[in-house]
Amino acid sequence: MCGIVGYTGQRQAYPIVLKGLKRLEYRGYDSSGVALLKDKHLKVFKKKGKVAELEESLIGTDIDANIGIGHTRWATHGEPSDRNAHPHTSKSGRIAMIHNGIIENYALIKQDLLKKGYSFTSDTDTEVLLNFIEDIQTNNDCTVEEALRIALKRVTGAYCILLIEQDNPDTIIAARKGSPLVIGIGKGEHFLASDASPIIEYTKEVVYVNDYELAIVKPDELVLKNLGNEKVTPFVTKLDMDLAAIEKGGYDHFMIKEIFEQPSTIFDCLRGRLDVKEGSIKMSGVDDNIEQLLNANRIMIIACGTSWHAGLVAEYIIEELCRIPVEVEYASEFRYRNPIVNKGDVIIAISQSGETADTIVALEKAKENGAFIFGVVNAVGSSIARISNAGAYTHAGPEIGVASTKAFTGQLAVLMMVALNIAKHKKTISQEKYDGLIKELQLVPEKVDAILKNADEIKAIAEKYKDASDFLFLGRGYNFPIALEGALKLKEISYIHAEGYPAAEMKHGPIALVDETLPVVFIATNDAYHEKIVSNMQEIKARKGRIISIITEGDSISKELSEDAFAIPATDEIIAPLLTVIPLQLLSYYVGTAKGIDVDKPRNLAKSVTVE
Ligand code: AGP
Repeated sequence: MCGIVGYTGQRQAYPIVLKGLKRLEYRGYDSSGVALLKDKHLKVFKKKGKVAELEESLIGTDIDANIGIGHTRWATHGEPSDRNAHPHTSKSGRIAMIHNGIIENYALIKQDLLKKGYSFTSDTDTEVLLNFIEDIQTNNDCTVEEALRIALKRVTGAYCILLIEQDNPDTIIAARKGSPLVIGIGKGEHFLASDASPIIEYTKEVVYVNDYELAIVKPDELVLKNLGNEKVTPFVTKLDMDLAAIEKGGYDHFMIKEIFEQPSTIFDCLRGRLDVKEGSIKMSGVDDNIEQLLNANRIMIIACGTSWHAGLVAEYIIEELCRIPVEVEYASEFRYRNPIVNKGDVIIAISQSGETADTIVALEKAKENGAFIFGVVNAVGSSIARISNAGAYTHAGPEIGVASTKAFTGQLAVLMMVALNIAKHKKTISQEKYDGLIKELQLVPEKVDAILKNADEIKAIAEKYKDASDFLFLGRGYNFPIALEGALKLKEISYIHAEGYPAAEMKHGPIALVDETLPVVFIATNDAYHEKIVSNMQEIKARKGRIISIITEGDSISKELSEDAFAIPATDEIIAPLLTVIPLQLLSYYVGTAKGIDVDKPRNLAKSVTVE
């Protein structure tokens, strides 16, 4: 997810574009840049780091212009750097372009352009698309608008692009498919952006551009066309949200926005990797290092917090499918004890931010002892990504809420694909089981969507139990780590004390806590442990514990034992954690908001623990 801003009119473009980029930094902030056009002279300024660093670098620079475009990046292709920052300029230097999205077939297009003698200054798919457009324009002797239309018919993926061309000194050409674009209508001026937050202070009259539409935007003219070059009548609406609501996409908090983003973020994580038709999982980090992974003496998973819970799920899955011994370590413990790490050990490092101090130091220590580091990271180009010998990004986009939600499910999806990939190479899994699991994995986005449609049921449960002073979360097998994650979410978002346990562990002490005031959340979906967990539920019920259960649709036995039950779609037990965690994320959010807590910034917590 990146932020895009454009302006054309009588005002100075730079201040408007810069302020707009700052409004959009929640969409991405690892690098930024602006392109300004004055008297047919194109000026491009771009820099790794936050927008404020770009602003600092431009003090004293001639930024006089009435037309400009700007971009704040969340890297997907190519690590955060000055050269990978947007805007990009075409080979001739005549066109500057910014892009939010992913061009899936960029590699093939790049090969073709390289053969034609093109060279590239960045690793991005955007620069490839831009030179593809210019190549078409040159070879067909057509306008850049026509060349763009031809190019967009040949690319696959998602895009929102703005481009400006030296020979068209007052015109911004925009196009979208899959990534949002809003155009603000002013008097003799137009504003363009990824959402309305950079626009609302100037005008409330906006046009939401639809997929497969192009916009040709001049100070006093907006023309919309489809890819068939037919004009489309712009539908002007009036903004009815305030700035804060716009930044959160209309949701009350970033946390709930990010919970509801998960059908698309899990889809983005699987995209280009999982191919059910082909029966394949393509992950260059795994495929290029498969011998290292297949011959691992053991796998150690190092992480903190929610990422550590993802590691526990991975331990169960990797041992079950790949038959490789797995140990899961808290980074903060690993770094200080004298662990035994040898060459031939594989370390899987899991981190949303890629900047967690304990995890970084633990990995550096393991690397010194010859271990191979495989990073599962959300922040492209982050420290942990750079320390790793190989890895796979979770592609969840920037996670602003302090509580990790969409990054966690992205981690699970990546780890499941890694395990399946290794198991297929090792032949420790039957073709039938493999095919069944990748089919179930592909269905996860729509099943998460179905769960989210019943969020109000969780909201009612949250209202009912929000004043409890303690909670227990119980699960078995693959859902035991989800019990831990559910407890952590509730603790960090509602400040209620909560503990997660393996359900059978109750008998070894914690059952003494159970009485009629204690809510006990069971993750009791249909799996190999179901009969056992029903017994555990009966033990709790016999002691008047208040049972809240996450069950599989149609499971009347567990429902009968529960004071409140929430049903989710059936799936394979190995895939289940991707579904069972969703109602627990919602439970923590709704309890926290019912208690009036700022769930995006809970007390005492930081989004990334970059110090010990
Ligand atoms: C998760 O909800 C917490 N905010 C926290 O436990 C987090 O998972 C932990 O600090 C690890 O962060 P990382 O994934 O960025 O390394």
